[in-house]
Amino acid sequence: MSSFEEDVLIGLSESPRWLPCKYLYDAKGSALFEKICDTEDYYVTRADLEIHRHQIAEVAQLIGSNAHLIEFGSGSGIKTELLISALLQPRAYTPIEISQTALDASVDQLRKRFQHLDVHPLQADYTEDIDPHHLHLDPVARRRVIYFPGSTIGNFTRDQASTFLKRMGKMAGDDGLIFIGVDLIKPINKLLRAYDDSAGITAEFNLNLLQRLRNELNADIDCDAFAHESRFNRALQRVEMHLVAQSPTSIGLGEQHFEFSKGESIHTESSHKYSIAGFQDLARESGLNPVRYWLDSQAQFSMHCLEPGQ
Ligand code: TRP
Repeated sequence: MSSFEEDVLIGLSESPRWLPCKYLYDAKGSALFEKICDTEDYYVTRADLEIHRHQIAEVAQLIGSNAHLIEFGSGSGIKTELLISALLQPRAYTPIEISQTALDASVDQLRKRFQHLDVHPLQADYTEDIDPHHLHLDPVARRRVIYFPGSTIGNFTRDQASTFLKRMGKMAGDDGLIFIGVDLIKPINKLLRAYDDSAGITAEFNLNLLQRLRNELNADIDCDAFAHESRFNRALQRVEMHLVAQSPTSIGLGEQHFEFSKGESIHTESSHKYSIAGFQDLARESGLNPVRYWLDSQAQFSMHCLEPGQ
């Protein structure tokens, strides 16, 4: 049995039902996600880019010269290019990315644009421990700088985010710095729209997961019986994406049969939102000191600079 099938069987057996969000990102899901980032309703991408455009000189100044820039993710195109262009004599750049295809594509582009930059890609899952030897440079850089733009930290629970921040601190090491994007708490209707855009692309993105169950796992499923819904969970301060049964239905997978009553849902992803102080508390609890932070002009999104505490 594939791990996809195993994970689906586990998630559908639990109450409430859920599916791991990583399965949203097959080729079709990744393409739809790119389209979400271009929608008017998904403010995150624009706000993050605005912070980069307006504040990158200050970021580069804090980093200083001869830094080893380590990005979690395959290089976010224009944002990474803005940062690298602004840096004073960067020593090297290491994108860490699980997908070799995504890694190759971004590395090719960066090597073309920055021909003198020492690029050391690393194919790995950045949510797992990474052997620091894989990051070693000879001669070494003056400092390591971890760069994690976007709002992916929001997809972790608070506890997972804390574990992840601790790991980042270790990886950055003494004199290291961490730059991380964090989406902010805001009026609920605005949050819900961002995860349920009016063009219906997020809905298509979420429903694509059910098509994967049908196409790849041969599940007996009526995809039209489910609808996408974004919900705000107040207690946990997060937006949740759900697939909600619109009428009684069932999903058959191998020998197993999962009955859904009308309104019953499958939880597929969460995006946690923070206040500035709330995120800084989380950073301190994780052994990191807030150095400073930047906001876009509408204070929708934030980028934080953190340093490992003594
Ligand atoms: N991690 C980002 C966020 O939570 C982007 C993202 C992940 C997203 N899944 C999504 C955006 C689904 C829209 C819909 O905001």
